[in-house]
Amino acid sequence: MNRVIIFDTTLRDGEQAAGAGLSIREKLEIAKQLERLGIDVIEAGFPISSPGDFEAVQLIAKEIKGSTVCALAHANAEAIDRAWEAIKKAKRPRIHVFLSASDIHLLYQLKKTREEILQISRDMVARAKKYTDDVEFSPMDASRTEPAYIHQILEAVIKAGATTLNIPDTVGYAIPQELGDLIEGIFNNVPNIDKVVVSVHCHNDLGLAVANSLEAIRRGARQVECTINGIGERAGNASLEEIVMTLKTRNDFYNLTTNIDTTQIYRTSRLVSELTGFIVQPNKAIIGANAFRHQSGIHQDGVIKKALTYEIMDPRSVGIPSSSLVLGKLSGRHAFKERLAELGYILDEESFKHAFQALKELADKKREVTDRDIESLIAEELRTVSEVYHLDHVEVSCGNNNIPTATVRLIGPDGRAMADADLGAGPVDAIYKAINRIVKVPNKLTEFTVKSVTEGIDAIGEVLIRIESNGIGYTGRGADTDIIVASAKAYMNALNRLLAAKKARKE
Ligand code: KIV
Ligand code: ZN
Repeated sequence: MNRVIIFDTTLRDGEQAAGAGLSIREKLEIAKQLERLGIDVIEAGFPISSPGDFEAVQLIAKEIKGSTVCALAHANAEAIDRAWEAIKKAKRPRIHVFLSASDIHLLYQLKKTREEILQISRDMVARAKKYTDDVEFSPMDASRTEPAYIHQILEAVIKAGATTLNIPDTVGYAIPQELGDLIEGIFNNVPNIDKVVVSVHCHNDLGLAVANSLEAIRRGARQVECTINGIGERAGNASLEEIVMTLKTRNDFYNLTTNIDTTQIYRTSRLVSELTGFIVQPNKAIIGANAFRHQSGIHQDGVIKKALTYEIMDPRSVGIPSSSLVLGKLSGRHAFKERLAELGYILDEESFKHAFQALKELADKKREVTDRDIESLIAEELRTVSEVYHLDHVEVSCGNNNIPTATVRLIGPDGRAMADADLGAGPVDAIYKAINRIVKVPNKLTEFTVKSVTEGIDAIGEVLIRIESNGIGYTGRGADTDIIVASAKAYMNALNRLLAAKKARKE
């Protein structure tokens, strides 16, 4: 097979990244964009882990028609049954069963023998197979497991009905040649391996996730598990855009294709960054702000004469817009809807109404509304849809001879308005204290960043924050032409994530 199956786990492993909690609505929005991107398999979540995750997977399974929708399950009956319950309405459902395989995990975590693990793997794959033909199995921590034992497990689960065998480098410990040898060993030693798809799932603890994934592909793996912007547990997962663009750009070397519409990459990356609150570093390959910017005079000279001199990819091939000047004060609903569709956003009537209103307000303050402004505005709209508390009003008085004083009014979960005020060391401190008086969730602000979405003095300011509560971090993002208001929105966003996570844990 000359095609590599792209398995996206942004909504499962990606969402496991500390602080990246997404609401159900945000997950659905990302899933729709992943479908447009041409993802073969979307891992939508881990239904047994919380009622919110269950609901998100169920909704995605119902809505997504162009990709297989996969649900993760521990190797136990309850988790598998719950996974099936969540995805049974999908056009193409897959259950992904995983169980630790390494002696380290068996000895210290599961306290089980290799024989027991073998038996459970076999039984649980058979259980999943009763529900759907499409069953994936992952022996967790495979890269630190004795290869002969992996072969035994894989042989057993193929017999039980697994159709995809995924080899995870769970802790990002492998190096390319080693992981490649493991994959080749599997092809040479596991009976009937040619009847199934071999997959890899690499973490980036040593910065080798993409290199490891590509080497596994070179040695025969035909499914790769990855995430948008490389987000994921700890240092993240292999970055989808880097793998896909390497296969495309170096087709002369790999001679392999994917189903991905690469022109959707940039949009997908922006959406995931906006909704998770994880900024993409400027020098990030493929989608970083500097990825196609030439600074040195010699390079600029070369690119002007012939782009090929210093550009190995055309920025348009990943969907980076050549010009992003779009709308203004006089733009109508139709033009806005069209631009949104071009950017990959299809909103329901209610959200569109809010977004259009926000566009008009923005165009009143800002002469030119760019694509980046629109992305920021839509992300703001999506964030407010799933709020527990909504910021209705914020007002600050400050100055060089004033004690900063803030008044806020929030709309609570029961629709009731609550107002309070407080003083602070600065305007943001005063706002956060006033909000705390209403929401009453102890937390500590650990990071605070402000940046502008576009150039110009009238640009939208974007505030990114991180708060910590009981040792867990939550990111928050807020955008507004007034950075004090953006700061308040970012805090509400982080608090709403915290409250949603708390509720999910309780349930
Ligand atoms: O990293 C890992 O091992 C996983 C498994 C659930 C596949 O995420
Ligand atoms: Zn993982």
